[in-house]
Amino acid sequence: MKIGILTSGGDCPGLNAVIRGAVLKGVISHDAEFVGFRWGWKGVVEGDFMPIERHDVRGLSKQGGTILGSSRTNPFEGEGGGPENIQRMLDENGIDAIIAIGGEGTLTAARRLTDAGLKIVGVPKTIDNDLAATDYSFGFDTAVEIATEAIDRLRTTAESHGRCLVVEVMGRHVGWIALHSGMAGGAHAILIPEQPKTIEQICEWVESVRDRGRAPLVVVAEGFHLEDMEGAHSHKGLDAFNRPRLGGIAERLAPMIEERTGIESRDTVLGHIQRGGAPSAYDRVLATRLGMHAVDAVYENAWGSMVTLRGTDIKTVSIAEAVGSLNRVPQARYDEAKILFG
Ligand code: F6P
Repeated sequence: MKIGILTSGGDCPGLNAVIRGAVLKGVISHDAEFVGFRWGWKGVVEGDFMPIERHDVRGLSKQGGTILGSSRTNPFEGEGGGPENIQRMLDENGIDAIIAIGGEGTLTAARRLTDAGLKIVGVPKTIDNDLAATDYSFGFDTAVEIATEAIDRLRTTAESHGRCLVVEVMGRHVGWIALHSGMAGGAHAILIPEQPKTIEQICEWVESVRDRGRAPLVVVAEGFHLEDMEGAHSHKGLDAFNRPRLGGIAERLAPMIEERTGIESRDTVLGHIQRGGAPSAYDRVLATRLGMHAVDAVYENAWGSMVTLRGTDIKTVSIAEAVGSLNRVPQARYDEAKILFG
């Protein structure tokens, strides 16, 4: 069997480990052949792919990013787009099936293509850990490590100056990176999209830290919004590509805190550094296992399925079941963390 692999959407550490796991399992257990589509669905639509041999994946599990490149191209758009064109391209090149590694957008497209008869297996990828069908997604653990190290470093400079530091981490719809890095780094307040708060509440936490002689450290997810802030989101309008301009919440909160509490405040946005570099050991193992199981799903003709982590086991679920359901931080997990605030 010849299998095409693609990585689509925002990158995250562990993508290369999935590719390596899939190729090694496919070659060793099934005598499969592999090609990699360049730049996500763009490579599928344009018939742009390269062979991936066993020697191409040597040492790949520790390498950040994706050797295939990624984009947010929609496979239903463009000249070669749509199920008929894609199937024709696959037939012409003898490609039997696709393993699509991506998040909500990629998987939604994969589901529509599978409904039209294409042979696709999905692998979930979300640095924000926001897909409900998997307990954890690779890349998340690495992002939490990076954010935690940053919080540790910001604490020492905050303490040196008696300042309040507001650290913005990724998390468009859910606050898992903020919750975990905030707990690990001993943040005095963790602000997440699932839990809007008033500026008064935030300042109360900040002041109680100052009153104990400490420098307050606030971790905020990019999708957080104040209870009393206009509009549901923290984004600042649309960017040049008509996408919501995310982030900027730390930049807005720091001066508000300074003005209300009189504590000198600074903001730091961690941004894409959370998605860069080598994956953690945990993410390498998870990604490798997902890649291996995706190949097994191909050989079981489990089209339209997605591999997923449930507890410590890798299972399969239907992509239809996986998309459209967010993995939000439950109230109980937030309440646990809140005991440590202030
Ligand atoms: O969805 C993952 C994510 O990293 C979000 O946390 C962030 O808002 C977004 O992607 C950034 O996207 P881009 O890389 O396109 O700027």
